[in-house]
Parts: sequence; structure tokens; C-alpha cells
Amino acid sequence: MNALVLTEYKQLQVEDLPAPVAGPREVLIQVAACGICGSDVHGYDGAAGRRIPPIVMGHEAAGIVAATGAEVRGFKTGDRVTFDSTVFCGRCEYCLRGEVNLCDDRQVIGVSCGEYRRAGAFAEYVTVPEHIVYRLPDGLSFAEAAMLEAVAVALHAVKVSEVRGAETALFIGAGMIGLLVLQAARAAGCKQVFVADVDASRLERAAALGADETLELSGPALVNEILRLTGGRGVDLALEAVGRNETVKTSIDCVRKGGTVTLVGNIAPLVEIPLQRVVTRQIRLQGSCASAGEYPEAMELVASGQIKVAELITAVAPLSQGAAWFERLYAREPNLMKVVLDPRDGAQDATHG
Ligand SMILES: NC(=O)c1ccc[n+]([C@@H]2O[C@H](COP(=O)([O-])OP(=O)(O)OC[C@H]3O[C@@H](n4cnc5c(N)ncnc54)[C@H](O)[C@@H]3O)[C@@H](O)[C@H]2O)c1
Ligand SMILES: [Zn+2]
Ligand SMILES: [Zn+2]
Repeated sequence: MNALVLTEYKQLQVEDLPAPVAGPREVLIQVAACGICGSDVHGYDGAAGRRIPPIVMGHEAAGIVAATGAEVRGFKTGDRVTFDSTVFCGRCEYCLRGEVNLCDDRQVIGVSCGEYRRAGAFAEYVTVPEHIVYRLPDGLSFAEAAMLEAVAVALHAVKVSEVRGAETALFIGAGMIGLLVLQAARAAGCKQVFVADVDASRLERAAALGADETLELSGPALVNEILRLTGGRGVDLALEAVGRNETVKTSIDCVRKGGTVTLVGNIAPLVEIPLQRVVTRQIRLQGSCASAGEYPEAMELVASGQIKVAELITAVAPLSQGAAWFERLYAREPNLMKVVLDPRDGAQDATHG
């Protein structure tokens, strides 16, 4: 089969590899779409240490069941499916509590680090355990399905934020995650939603996707504007989807007393926290990692149009163009959102606005 292999850091090439064979509880999937994730782009140059070559990356995928292992009962050849990016054990303390994203034996598809190596979906075929596979609703295209992982991340972040409805919320960062969090928060009932970014084109997308106010501001200027918009109170929820020192501090400064700051962004390994402010205003700092069972809800919300993803797909391209797209994403070319690769033979290039 054809596979896009990271042969060494910053070197991707299509190679002919043996197709994988499904184990007894595994499903062999013919990949029809696989999104390039920010974490793949960060893994590409070795900085993250989680994509040690040689590795086939790719964990945001959908396709068609091509074969099933002897013990698989829930799926059959020809089913249209997607799968969770995380493989969990189902037995540890965290899995038993439903916190599968925190599994002691957690592995991510398309990742090779010190502890494990798992081939991903930038290839014609991939095998994954049955228990992370989901059947796709008919109305959902494969390319849209490749966005479900990011949608699940957004739903999880809103869930751990304990949104009950009627909140005012600020989202810092209108990238892929921020724009999905914005829609997930709307679906969960947030009353008033502000989005801040330093890139005007990202804010235009945020406005089109339902933000009440978009703020091309950062740091103290953003804090002042949020205080003005909330009559000096601050927002109930500030969700940080950038991951840098300044934006983490700003999110803490924008929240009301007793409010929640949800931390999703994680670019910087270390940030400073205004300790006195967090303590004396009793602010809750809540981390959010990946997702834990949000796939079915993600499929429902995308299929029903409550969360729009088609707008966030920049291009669907064949595997042969994967290396070039990685270069463009790595170079941070402006206006690129999600790029989806279609490894099927004869896949056509389709670039959207
Ligand atoms: N916790 C998780 O499970 C999880 C999952 C996926 C991604 N992430 C993290 O979430 C973050 C966002 O991911 P993404 O895919 O949306 O990235 P992205 O690059 O698409 O978006 C980042 C956005 O932040 C904006 N930005 C940069 N500096 C800013 C500043 N000072 N003020 C305001 N906005 C600023 C950029 O203009 C961009 O729009 C990253 O740190 C990523 O690692 C976390
Ligand atoms: Zn991803
Ligand atoms: Zn587990």
C-alpha cells in the first residue's frame, strides 16, 4: 500500500509498505480522509519528540471497513467509519471511571515516542482496535468526519468547563480549536460569546460562526475591553486555546471572581501564573486533554449542522501532495486551516476558500 512516511525529521515521502493485517479485535480500515493535525506539524521537525522516524503519522481519519478480526462483532466490511485518536485499555482506574483520555496505557494513533509506536492513517490502510471505531451517519462526508477529533476536543473542553447555560465566555485564540470551542459553547448554551485573536482573518471566521463580539486585542487592552463589555465584572468562563504565557495570564485577568479558566492551548511548556489573583478571586484553573467519549455527540452536532466544519477545511489533497502541504503548514502560511489527505488511488485535489 502507499503510505506517507516521515523517514527523518522534515522528510516525508510516499513509500510502498506492506498493508497491515487486523488482529482478532481489530478493524482494517481503507482510509478515505485523514486530517493533518497541529500536533503532526509540531512532530514533523522533532521538537515535540512524539513522532520519532520512521513513522506514518495521522490520527484524524475516516474510511471504509476493509476487513475485520475474528472476534469483531460490531462492524462488517463496507461500513463507513471513523475512529478515536486515542487507544485506551478499558481496565485501568481512569478507564473504569470513563476518563479514557487519562488511561494509564494511553496510546495515540500515528505516534511513535519512547514507549510505543503506532502506525497512523496517512496511508491507504490502517488497523485500529474495534472499541475505538464509530459508524458514520450517512450525511457526513469522509472529509467532515476527519474533523471529528478536533470537534470532540472542543466538546470535551466545554464539558470540563461545566457550562450550564447562560454564561458569558471569552475564547482566546480563534484557530481550529478555538473556532470549534466557540460553536460547542454555543450548542451548550453559553449566552454571550467573545472571541479574541491577533489575526483579523481568524476573527472574521469567528464572527461568521456565531461570536457576539470579536476582539483583535491582546494583553491589558483585551482585559480592559472585556471589563468594559461586562460592566467591570469579567466573564464567567475564559478558555485559552493558544498556549502561551501572555494569553494564559490574560485569560486569568478576564474572568470574574469564582470563574473558570479552561486551559486547552499548550505551546509553551511553562507559563507564569498570577498566584494572588487566582487565590484571592478563587478562580478555577481547569486543564482539558483530548476527549473522553465525545465522538457520538460530535457526530450528531456536525451531522445536524449545529457545528459547522466544512468552512474550516482548506483543502482535500492526495497523499502525493502531503509533503508539500506539511511544508506549507510548517511555514505557517497564512489562512490555512485544516488540510485533509485522501490516500485512495485516484484521489483528486480540491482546494477550498
Ligand atoms: N488540550 C488538547 O487536547 C488540545 C488538542 C488540540 C490542540 N491543542 C492546543 O490548542 C492550541 C490551539 O490549537 P489550534 O489547532 O487551534 O492552533 P491554531 O494555530 O489553529 O490556532 C492558534 C490561534 O491562536 C492565535 N494567537 C496566537 N497568538 C495569540 C495571542 N497572543 N492572542 C490571541 N490569539 C493568538 C493565532 O492567531 C491562531 O488563530 C495549541 O496550543 C494546541 O497545541 C490542545
Ligand atoms: Zn489531532
Ligand atoms: Zn486505561
